[in-house]
Amino acid sequence: MERIRILGIETSCDETAAAVVENGTEVLSNVVSSQIKLHAPFGGVVPEIACRAHIQNLPYVVQKALDEARLALDQIEAVAVTHTPGLVGALLIGVNFAKGLSLANGLPLVAVHHLHAHVYSSVMEHRLSYPFICLVVSGGHTSLYLSEHPLHYQLLGTTTDDAAGEAFDKVASLLNLPYPGGPSIEKAARDGNPAAIPFPRTFLQDKERLAFSFSGIKTAVLYHTRGKNASRQAPLASGVSVPDVAASFQEAVVEVLVEKLILAAKKFRVKNIALGGGVACNGRLREKLTCRAREEDLQPYFPSPSFCTDNAAMIAGLGYHLFQKGVLADLTLDASATARRKVRSL
Ligand code: KG4
Ligand code: ZN
Repeated sequence: MERIRILGIETSCDETAAAVVENGTEVLSNVVSSQIKLHAPFGGVVPEIACRAHIQNLPYVVQKALDEARLALDQIEAVAVTHTPGLVGALLIGVNFAKGLSLANGLPLVAVHHLHAHVYSSVMEHRLSYPFICLVVSGGHTSLYLSEHPLHYQLLGTTTDDAAGEAFDKVASLLNLPYPGGPSIEKAARDGNPAAIPFPRTFLQDKERLAFSFSGIKTAVLYHTRGKNASRQAPLASGVSVPDVAASFQEAVVEVLVEKLILAAKKFRVKNIALGGGVACNGRLREKLTCRAREEDLQPYFPSPSFCTDNAAMIAGLGYHLFQKGVLADLTLDASATARRKVRSL
């Protein structure tokens, strides 16, 4: 079989990543330089810091990805790069680096949609069969996709305000827990009672609507921990149990995520369901989805944590299919903070 190796580049947010993937599924290298330590003092990603770190690190990350795959650039068929959605300055760094590589080495350029690549991660790792529904749940996104083949991504529903990961990060900050908030909340929740506080589960009862909203629960946590008229900076009210708030918040978010994914699977009569994005690392989310999927006779797939969080292997993997179809970009390729099209099918 012919070996088509794609170099993937990912700089949409705070991970500088490069990877080499063969024939869409064989990951030959997967290098990620995380910026968590740089952003932690600010409690969230600072775009300018992210961009500067991408500029400094990307050349080394790309070289490392080639070295670990034991390949030179002339053994690569194409360069695939994330061009949307994300922080526009951060995306531009990856896009321009990829253009330079393409121009200097005569390599075809492939533009990859970051969220479609998250959906594709489960195919790359678990070879799950089509069609399937994937919930991409991260710091910037909470989106349900139906995928019928590697180049088909139908957006079924998304958040009307905050992303679930953003809510984890903001609630962690309200509880004075360290950034990133997801792992901190999960850890604190282990000692708490998930039924202690009935935080809102927005849209849960609306069985017609494939949509999410997490701004209400954020405000509910603020009121519970500070009282109705206090500012975010006020100290925690006396008697507030951080583990109970963490566990109750996590339970409410997880319940909505799981039930909307199941609802989508039933609506579209699809058996295979998957998760993607950083929040998909959450143990309670995986546990609850496993349990509910069994009850509903659905088959869940969970990418391992390194394929849940931002990585370039998913970009190279999906890039392979675009390349094989001849869907190439040229040197006019631009970056876009928001994705323009809702459905992509080629
Ligand atoms: O996909 P990702 O690495 O970056 C993007 O946002 O694109 O996701 C990061 C998000 C953060 O909001 C982080 O708090 C959340 O994923 N996260 C988690 C967990 N690990 C990371 N949320 C809940 N539980 C976790 N274990
Ligand atoms: Zn992502």
